[in-house]
Amino acid sequence: MDERLLSADEFGGEIEVQRNLRPKTLNEYIGQERLKEKLEIFMTASKNRNESMDHTLLYGPPGLGKTTLAGVIATEMGTNLKVTSGPVLDKAGDLAAILTSLEEQDILFIDEIHRLNTSVEEILYPAMEDREIDIIIGKGPTARSIRIELPNFTLIGATTRAGLLSAPLRDRFGLVHRMDYYSTDDLLKIIIRGANILDVGIEPEGALEMALRSRGTPRIANRFLKRVRDYAEIRGDGIITLKIAKEALSLLGVDDYGLDELDREIILSIIDNYDGGPVGIETLALLLGEDRRTLEEIYEPYLVKVGFIKRTHRGRVVTPKAYKHFNKKEKTEENL
Ligand SMILES: Nc1ncnc2c1ncn2[C@@H]1O[C@H](COP(=O)(O)OP(=O)(O)O)[C@@H](O)[C@H]1O
Ligand SMILES: [Mg+2]
Repeated sequence: MDERLLSADEFGGEIEVQRNLRPKTLNEYIGQERLKEKLEIFMTASKNRNESMDHTLLYGPPGLGKTTLAGVIATEMGTNLKVTSGPVLDKAGDLAAILTSLEEQDILFIDEIHRLNTSVEEILYPAMEDREIDIIIGKGPTARSIRIELPNFTLIGATTRAGLLSAPLRDRFGLVHRMDYYSTDDLLKIIIRGANILDVGIEPEGALEMALRSRGTPRIANRFLKRVRDYAEIRGDGIITLKIAKEALSLLGVDDYGLDELDREIILSIIDNYDGGPVGIETLALLLGEDRRTLEEIYEPYLVKVGFIKRTHRGRVVTPKAYKHFNKKEKTEENL
């Protein structure tokens, strides 16, 4: 859930910080160069033609800046942004109400768009394609359908799992982009930018240490920045040095690769219980007492990316690299 949806009273300063760290323009948006270039072209072209931008689908692991980007696009296009999400849109009427309230050129952002139910999704097809919807009025034999024209609008959909999107929905996006994990360099820039905004002193080595452990994810980098700042204020003189960053991150249970407790449990349970796999995701979820979706959407993509886990058609397999990292001996013919 987006942190902006939480009430200010509940979380006080914490949201204020999140809000400040969130880039508002394309210039402030660090990394994702290929995507930014594409967007710049599409945005300028549609502005020149005085049209709304093509519907855009962003997919990739959480915390990579999908919601942020929707806001950036609205700022750059000079339009309103309406935000909703798949699970919130319960009935077709909920979506119809939002669509009919849009103004010319508005951007509608639907988060977790893979979780729309079918009846809601069906409203979206004609809305995206022909900018119209049919609404059924009344019930039974007297029911009739009326067509409502919609303004030109741009739908931005975000999902952690593009594979779960139905083909007809996916096909209606003009631009589909997979968000990638950020490079260490980009994370470094994000951390230094954040430190400037929060007005906290940071040494380059300290920033690098945090970047290396942020699992390619800006949201995690920002979260670390806040926690390490706290630590620096209490245990140091307020400046984030390499030593402070290391101490604070290990206190948070984050290792050199940015792996946390559950990452370690995932790997170790495959090694200890299944000799390194293969093991099915369902079995693994049961074994760990974790939600399957959490494993698949948040944990597994990064473990695959750093090369600790491989996905095979028979299930998940732990790699030799992971055995080495966790100081475990692989079972071979000799030591069986
Ligand atoms: N490209 C970026 N440059 C700087 N900060 C970013 C960038 N992308 C994301 N962030 C930061 O990371 C946080 C999480 O991003 P968000 O858009 O909520 O991710 P998602 O919607 O993909 O889960 C934001 O609050 C923002 O401060
Ligand atoms: Mg989001």
